[in-house]
Amino acid sequence: MSEFHTARGPFSHTRMRRMRRDDFSRRLMREHRLSVDDLIWPVFVIEGENQREAVSSMPGVERLSIDQLLVEAETAHRLGIPAIALFPVTPAERKSEDAAEAFNPEGLAQRAVRALKAALPTLGVITDVALDPFTTHGQDGLLDASGYVLNDETVEVLVRQALSHAEAGADVVAPSDMMDGRIGRIRAALEADGHIHTRILAYSAKYASSFYGPFRDAVGSAANLGAGNKYTYQMDPANGDEAMHEVALDLAEGADMVMVKPGMPYLDIVYRVKRDFGVPTYVYQVSGEYAMLEAAAGHGWLDGRAVILESLLGMKRAGADGILTYFACRVAHWLREAEQG
Ligand code: PBG
Repeated sequence: MSEFHTARGPFSHTRMRRMRRDDFSRRLMREHRLSVDDLIWPVFVIEGENQREAVSSMPGVERLSIDQLLVEAETAHRLGIPAIALFPVTPAERKSEDAAEAFNPEGLAQRAVRALKAALPTLGVITDVALDPFTTHGQDGLLDASGYVLNDETVEVLVRQALSHAEAGADVVAPSDMMDGRIGRIRAALEADGHIHTRILAYSAKYASSFYGPFRDAVGSAANLGAGNKYTYQMDPANGDEAMHEVALDLAEGADMVMVKPGMPYLDIVYRVKRDFGVPTYVYQVSGEYAMLEAAAGHGWLDGRAVILESLLGMKRAGADGILTYFACRVAHWLREAEQG
């Protein structure tokens, strides 16, 4: 950039601070915005009536029985949140080696979907397709004698689970299991059964992350999993190109939307997916990210509202079209307040 001379000596023509000086020009040059349209609210669902249980590793998050879920979902809907993602907490006696509860038409997830679609037909309902809440060992699939998670056998169960969700009225099924070929098999089964409108949100780049700890407490799979890990199916946090390969496969198999998970440490992946594929791209601000922000804010070490909004805006800037976040309702309130001045 050329320089020119002032009374005080040479100076660049470029003064980046000109546009930052006033609120009006800061607003005019703002590139990204967080809106309520970007939010998906993940909720933990429990059996019973009139039940609310605090999740100790996620202060401010509660597991809700279906009747309470309806109350909170109505608020979320009124705030303008487009969709809710359900995570059932399976009672221990319903867990098994073969995860049969996953496709029980009267299962908790299936009943929650029916109740939500009956009460709030225009609220999008997303279901989690994976076996970990239903297995006695806490893995996302069926095991062979050595403890290895079987791929193709697991996919057969995932297909039945996804179909049972679609039959219950789920708008979106979201396979979070990371088995190979599951998107194609689920898509074929949905089409064959006439569920041509059911969308698939593929957890395409799901990493074997330690940020899922509080979630496993919340759904009660942590104790089942014990010292086990998910390294043979979830991705190595060291890899980026492999995520592009996963996304390409899931799109070829019929995914409508793809997801990267977790969020904050993986925004380079979000950026690459959106840039290279240009498809609806989502990111999951997972339980450990929630716990981290909430803990620091709770101690007064960070300004909670400011860092939560900043974390979500960063995801938008990286290219996310939408964000699963446990902060969804709180953020929707703040955005509404800001709108109303
Ligand atoms: C289950 C599933 C997990 C999460 C969403 N679906 C946990 C896991 O893979 O162990 C994590 C979500 C979060 O941490 O908020 N397949």
